[in-house]
Amino acid sequence: MERLPLVDASEVLAGASPRVLERAFLVLGLLAHGYVFQDTVVGGKPVDELPPQLAVPWCQVAAMVGRPPVITHSSIALANYHEIDEDKGAVVDNLGMNSLFLGGMDEAWFYTAALGVEGAGAPALVGLVEGMHGVVLGEPEMVLNALQRVLAAVLAMDDALARLPERCMPAVFYSRIRLFLAGWAGNSELPNGLTYAGVTPDFDHTATRPERVAAASGSATPSFVGKFNGASAAQSSLIQALDAGLDIEHESAFLDAMVAHMPRPHARLIDALWHGPSLREYAHACGEPAVLQMYLACREALALFRNRHIQIVARYILQQSPARPSSEKGTGGTSIMPFLKGIRDTTRG
Ligand code: ALA
Repeated sequence: MERLPLVDASEVLAGASPRVLERAFLVLGLLAHGYVFQDTVVGGKPVDELPPQLAVPWCQVAAMVGRPPVITHSSIALANYHEIDEDKGAVVDNLGMNSLFLGGMDEAWFYTAALGVEGAGAPALVGLVEGMHGVVLGEPEMVLNALQRVLAAVLAMDDALARLPERCMPAVFYSRIRLFLAGWAGNSELPNGLTYAGVTPDFDHTATRPERVAAASGSATPSFVGKFNGASAAQSSLIQALDAGLDIEHESAFLDAMVAHMPRPHARLIDALWHGPSLREYAHACGEPAVLQMYLACREALALFRNRHIQIVARYILQQSPARPSSEKGTGGTSIMPFLKGIRDTTRG
């Protein structure tokens, strides 16, 4: 690693398209997490310092995309697939993953199944916006139809999530996949976070200009120390958009913080949905029982989807955990079961 050149990404990627920046962010993220967690596959400890050859360009690209230097759902899943047959479109059985950690069918399918959920749920976004439009116009029929669209999409998300076990075995997930998806916040193995050697100590991915990321070199090169959560379903823009659009408040600092890990336009959409007219208030106040029933059916379907996630966590994490399943944390850094059950329950209301 020390023999690799220190690449100035602000120069190499100057003027690069968003797609190229996403690719660079993903590749650097894969290399960095591979470096940090390489020994964990054989039972060793993660490394707590990233060399400048990885840290500097990764933080430069993080500043360009406006997201923290850590692997996220958006990089490892959303920005990491291709359509196998261009004529068949972005349907789950036609998707191939571009880059993986250790590789293999189980790892590829773990991300592909997540993409299946995203694809199945996409029509819900249109439904939420149409529903809000109906609220503004005072048209209960329009709101009802829009909520029906949301419901169909959430049910399809559940079907898509149910496909995970088709090609991803719990034991493989536990011992070969999730190790690399962890981060350095809420991770007892990296209690002090990760040192990004060669990066200016006051680095801030939202404020530091990419050409200012590298610290001045010298014998005592200063470093940036960061604590960032690893990959988490809470980073799915789709799922948080559903909460925002249906006006389901979880009052979770973790969920709020994960918005910073999403692509900036996704975060803006979620913000706009929170600020739009409330479908919850309208459903309760409009006096049309069918609208209220449909609204509550959307929430129940989302709660069932979250319940399926809980069942998957039980099978893929807790049942695989050799020692103390009750203390297992998610790669995002939360105490996984209490967190997920709490969110499921507030989804029901
Ligand atoms: N968040 C998932 C886990 O904790 C990937 O394993």
